Amino acid sequence: MYFLVNKIILFLIPVMPKFFVKFFANKYVAGVKTSQALRVVKKLNNKGLSCTLDILGEHTADLKESNAITNKYIDILDRIKLNSLDCNISIKPSHIGSDISDKNFNQNIEKLLIKADNNNNFIRIDMEDSKLTDLTIETYKNNHNYKKYLGIVLQAYLLRTSQDLRTLEENSNIRLCKGIYNEDSSIAIKDSKIINKNYIELLNIAFDKNIYVGIATHDEKLINDILKIIEDSKIDKNKFEFQMLYGVPMNKTIDYLLKNNYKVRIYVPYGRNWYDYSIRRIKENPNISKYIIQNLFK
Ligand code: FDA
Repeated sequence: MYFLVNKIILFLIPVMPKFFVKFFANKYVAGVKTSQALRVVKKLNNKGLSCTLDILGEHTADLKESNAITNKYIDILDRIKLNSLDCNISIKPSHIGSDISDKNFNQNIEKLLIKADNNNNFIRIDMEDSKLTDLTIETYKNNHNYKKYLGIVLQAYLLRTSQDLRTLEENSNIRLCKGIYNEDSSIAIKDSKIINKNYIELLNIAFDKNIYVGIATHDEKLINDILKIIEDSKIDKNKFEFQMLYGVPMNKTIDYLLKNNYKVRIYVPYGRNWYDYSIRRIKENPNISKYIIQNLFK
């Protein structure tokens, strides 16, 4: 019955009015304005959590806009410094110009890297769908001068990831996630157990290669398996961090990790393009019907 209600809600969400979706989406998004997002970051920092800020949006089609978004990220890097926040930034290639041209994307990345270098901060390039995997990895490798300030994301569901990981240099910096896009079975693993198995294999390769890993998952069983590997293999705590999305209810796990001196970073998205992102998060919530009913009666 519960399962059925969840299914019906998931089916209905795309046709629900935006104001109604916003009501449930709020917990996954840190507001619309930079000032609101920075306040959230400060609160999270005060709890001992590091952050990464993401301006929501993707597939920018206009050159002026992609440059304006890049400038907004530059402004964020300055405001992070000004407010002494423990926070870096995450950006999507298609948000800052990859749909316009590889050149525009690379120029914007360079601008951001110069600022990150000046401010001693860090930029993570999120991984979008498989059409952008080559460009993202190439850009990362081409900017090895700025290695200290740049990282990418690898997705455990892609069949190519093991090979991609093996081509990265020692001391590279990756976020490892399962992968969110609906990729074809010719290039991606579809079975969740096999994705988890691949996740562990990839993590072991990364640790062997001395690659820094942002372990990005909310999967409690996977986190426990990873903690065991870390403890058994005595992996240095400076070689990885845990990463989770803002609003996903992980308090117990986060408390445990912080208590045991593990670094935890929260991915904090914000901005006026909150809708698509929020829909993805709502759909991933296995307790969606319970969550919606609880909120309606709050
Ligand atoms: P899984 O989906 O199996 O979820 C495990 C459990 O977590 C669920 O059973 C549930 O209990 C809980 N949970 C998960 N989502 C929830 C939600 N929204 N609400 C309530 N509970 C929830 N992907 C990508 O392709 N490119 C990228 O760059 C990134 N970046 C990124 C950064 C960070 C910090 C994270 C945590 C994730 C990403 N992802 C991503 C998304 C990632 O690929 C994946 O789709 C989601 O994290 C969901 O997968 P889990 O590993 O959490 O496992």
